[in-house]
Amino acid sequence: MNFDLTEEQKLIKDMVREFAENEIAPSASERDEEERFDRGLMFDKLGELGLTGIVFPEEYGGAGADYISYAIAVEELSRVCASTGVTLSAHLSLGSNPIYLFGTETQKQKFLTPMAKGEKMGAFGLTEPAAGSDAGGTKTTARREGDSWILNGTKIFITNAGEAEIYVVMARTDKDAQKHHGISAFIVEKGTPGFSFGKKEKKMGIRSSPTMELVFENCQIPADNMLGKEGEGFKVAMKTLDGGRIGIAAQALGIAQGALEAAVNYAKERKQFDNPIASFQGIMFQLADMACMVESARLLVYQAAYKASNGQSYTQASAMAKLVASETAMKVSTQAVQVLGGYGYTREFPVERMMRDAKITEIYEGTSEIQRLVIGTNLTR
Ligand code: CAA
Ligand code: FAD
Repeated sequence: MNFDLTEEQKLIKDMVREFAENEIAPSASERDEEERFDRGLMFDKLGELGLTGIVFPEEYGGAGADYISYAIAVEELSRVCASTGVTLSAHLSLGSNPIYLFGTETQKQKFLTPMAKGEKMGAFGLTEPAAGSDAGGTKTTARREGDSWILNGTKIFITNAGEAEIYVVMARTDKDAQKHHGISAFIVEKGTPGFSFGKKEKKMGIRSSPTMELVFENCQIPADNMLGKEGEGFKVAMKTLDGGRIGIAAQALGIAQGALEAAVNYAKERKQFDNPIASFQGIMFQLADMACMVESARLLVYQAAYKASNGQSYTQASAMAKLVASETAMKVSTQAVQVLGGYGYTREFPVERMMRDAKITEIYEGTSEIQRLVIGTNLTR
C-alpha cells in the first residue's frame, strides 16, 4: 500500500493550489456576500487549466487523469471557496459523467466533448418538490411523440442551473410503473422551447453557487436525447451519485482543511494571558482533534477515488467518504470558529463562511441519514 501521491497528482495539487490561492480566494468572501457567480473565474478558467474534464479520456476532450487527481482539484478549490468546488463537482460528476458512462458515441461527441473542454457547463436534475431523499418518487413525466419526448414537471435546488448549457434530467416514462421503475434519463439543452428556470434560492452557504428550479412545460426534445435505456434512469442516477459523492466528499475535505489551517495560524498569532492561545492545552488539543479528523476523512476520500479509478465497486466507499468528510467539515469548521473566538464569528475571517458552507455537504447528494442507509443496507444485505 502506497500513500504517496504520484508525480502527476502532486503537479495537479500544486497547480490548483496556486490558482485557488491567487485567483479564487481573493474574491471568495465578496462573491459570497453578493451571492454572485463568476463564470469566467469559477468555470472558464477551470476549463483552461484542464480541470473541467480531468478524468475523461483525451479523445473526449478530457485530461485522462485519475479520480484522486479530480478529488484533489475539488479539495484545493474548496479549501478557499466551496462554491467553486461544487461548480466543478456538479459539472463533472453529475452533468458530464452520466454521459460518459451511459451515452452513445454520438452523445459523447456532441455533448461530453465540449463539456470536458469547458466550453459547455453541465448540471443534474433529479430532485423535485416531493422527491428529495426518495428519488424514486420522481413525478416529472416524459411522453413519447414520434421522434420526440415531451417533458413536463419541475426540478428544484439544481446546482449550476441557469448557467449550465447541458442538463441530465430524470423523468417518468411509464406512469403505471411503481417507485423507481419507469424512470428514464434525458439530456436537455438550455434554450430548448418549454424549458425555463424558476426561483433562484437564497441560501445559508455556498452563496456564490447558483441554485435554481428547472421548469418543463411541454418541452420537446429529440428521442436521441434519451440517456441510457428506457426505464433505467434510476440506475443512471444512482451510478452518477456514486461518483458525485466522491466530489462532494472532496469538497467537504477542502472546507475542513481550510478551516483547520485558519485555526492553526490564528492560534499561533493570537495572544491572551501573555501567551499565544496555541500554547493552551485546551486549544492545542482541539487543533489536534481537528487534524486527526481531517486526515481520517482524507484517507476515505482518496480510497473511494482510488476504487473509482481502478475498476472496483465504490458505492460503499463513496457513501462512507461523503458521510465522514461532510461531518468532519461541519465539526472542524465549527471548532475553527470557536478557536477564533469573537473574530471567528465575524465576516473579517473566512471561518464563518466555511461553517455555513460545510452544512450543505451533510445535505446534498444524499443527506447523512441517506448515506447511513446506503452503508447500512450494504452491510446487512
Ligand atoms: N448503483 C446501481 N444500482 C443501484 C444503486 C447503485 N449505487 N443503488 C440502488 N440501485 C438499484 C437497486 O439495485 C435496485 O435495483 P432493482 O430494481 O433491480 O432491484 C434499485 O436501484 C432501487 O434500489 P433501492 O430499493 O435501494 O431504492 P430506494 O428507492 O430505496 O432508494 C436511495 C435508495 C439510496 C435512498 C436513493 O433514493 C438515494 O440515493 N436517495 C438520495 C437522493 C440523492 O442523493 N439526491 C442527490 C441529488 S444531486 C445533488 O444533491 C447535487 C449536488 O450535490 C450538487
Ligand atoms: P427530505 O428528503 O425531505 O429530507 C428531510 C429530512 O428527512 C432529512 O434530514 C433526511 O435525512 C430525512 N430523511 C428522509 N428520508 C429518510 C429515511 N429514509 N431515513 C432517515 N431519514 C430520512 N438535487 C439535484 O437533483 N441536483 C442538484 O444539483 C442539487 N443541488 C442542490 C444544491 C443545494 C444548495 C441544495 C440545498 C440541494 C440540492 N439538491 C440537488 C437537492 C438535494 O440533493 C436534496 O435537498 C437532498 O437530497 C435532500 O432532499 P430534501 O431536501 O427533499 O429532504
